[in-house]
Amino acid sequence: MATYRIITYGCQMNERDSETIAGILAGRGYRKAAEGEDPDIVVLNTCCVREGAERKVLGKTQELKALKTTHPQAIIAVVGCLSQQPGVAASIMKKMPHVDIVLGTHNIERIGEALENVAALRHPVIEVLDQETVPPEGLPAVRAPGVRAWVTVMYGCDNFCSYCIVPYVRGRERSRLPGEIKAEVQRLVDEGFKEVVLLGQNVNAYGKRLGTGQDFADLLREVDSVRGLSRVRFMTSHPKDFTQKMICAVRDLPTVCEHIHLPVQSGSNSVLERMNRGYTREQYMDLASRIRQAMPDCSLTTDIIVGFPGEDERGFAETKDLVRQIGFDAAFTFLYSPRKGTRAASMPGEVPQETKKARISQIIAIQNEITQRKNRDLAGQVFEVLVEGPSERDPSVKAGRTRQNKMVHFRTSAPAGSLVSVRVTATGTWTLRGEVVGEGSPPTT
Ligand code: 5AD
Ligand code: SF4
Repeated sequence: MATYRIITYGCQMNERDSETIAGILAGRGYRKAAEGEDPDIVVLNTCCVREGAERKVLGKTQELKALKTTHPQAIIAVVGCLSQQPGVAASIMKKMPHVDIVLGTHNIERIGEALENVAALRHPVIEVLDQETVPPEGLPAVRAPGVRAWVTVMYGCDNFCSYCIVPYVRGRERSRLPGEIKAEVQRLVDEGFKEVVLLGQNVNAYGKRLGTGQDFADLLREVDSVRGLSRVRFMTSHPKDFTQKMICAVRDLPTVCEHIHLPVQSGSNSVLERMNRGYTREQYMDLASRIRQAMPDCSLTTDIIVGFPGEDERGFAETKDLVRQIGFDAAFTFLYSPRKGTRAASMPGEVPQETKKARISQIIAIQNEITQRKNRDLAGQVFEVLVEGPSERDPSVKAGRTRQNKMVHFRTSAPAGSLVSVRVTATGTWTLRGEVVGEGSPPTT
């Protein structure tokens, strides 16, 4: 039986796309290659959001040349965001003739046909479409095992944040129909999944062009009503589209978890404006406080870019101040990376790499301290935890997450997929330890 290996870079949307690629390959009789086994096809599902990601993909693609010496019939495919960039497909084919297939983001489902053509013609297949398509429904998927499944509810992004390549490589916003999403979630529950994560680059813009009048809060309501589902999560939300109706939906819908990933990117109004984020520092802070007012136990996480063009000491100090004032549960921090074709790439005021690095270390240190303090405050409290299975780091204990998305380790005989009540007994930066004090969710006080 022929074998495949899929290597995925970047975001959860890519992870989900890779599940579809796996489904298509499995449907054509391929099985996943074992560790250490030379696969018959390698698919690199790529990312280009920052230069580092791009470099990694190109390095790996180059490295795969070696596979062709041990296994000359092997097929190498480079698909997704990196390939979608103008000129990249041609440049890969020129510099890395060992690559057999290049597909952009709009037609990854063509991997099966591309494979057939390469095998028949022994000639490379390059298909990068300029125009996005309405993503087809009903494609097969081999899902990552576990209690959690990813469900892409919308594709693309219309925001054009000035630093971001995503709108160029993922195209315009397209939402799936609520009925299709609900049916997929029901199927996942029937297969045994307990939690779904609704995905979109800008997930809370869901429905804008659907023409049915339904928005993301309405979709959450639909998904919440799926029988047998324990939890719903969603990412990534854009602050400018986070309505009061959504806050109420997260608060009121029983399965929807109290965790909002809400990238702020910067705490400086002048930087936010040049980033084209569509909100001010004050509006963001107001949104965060309305979320906390409605749900005091809601966790808030964020993304921050340091060293955006023109970010001066004052602008950076404003970001540090915002991080301290909000007190995020976690922050993902990035060094600004110029992306060809974006507006920010030609903005003046480049920040030296050394300054960027010094700034990111400061933000990380501030956030780590906040995360530790917030976690310490959780000691003694009881949380609903969804058991995921043995911990990767210490298989003698089980791992699970609270509704706020905090990882907890504890001992239990309850199988994966069960909801248990766990009292937090010890806290660290990344994980909590706890003891099970009951089955199901803790009673609400
Ligand atoms: N440079 C650095 N970080 C970026 N991000 C997106 N584009 C860039 C870039 N050019 C970050 C943003 C976004 C996260 C997914 O990646 O913080 O929220
Ligand atoms: Fe990129 Fe902004 Fe769209 Fe997020 S909202 S994908 S940062 S353009």
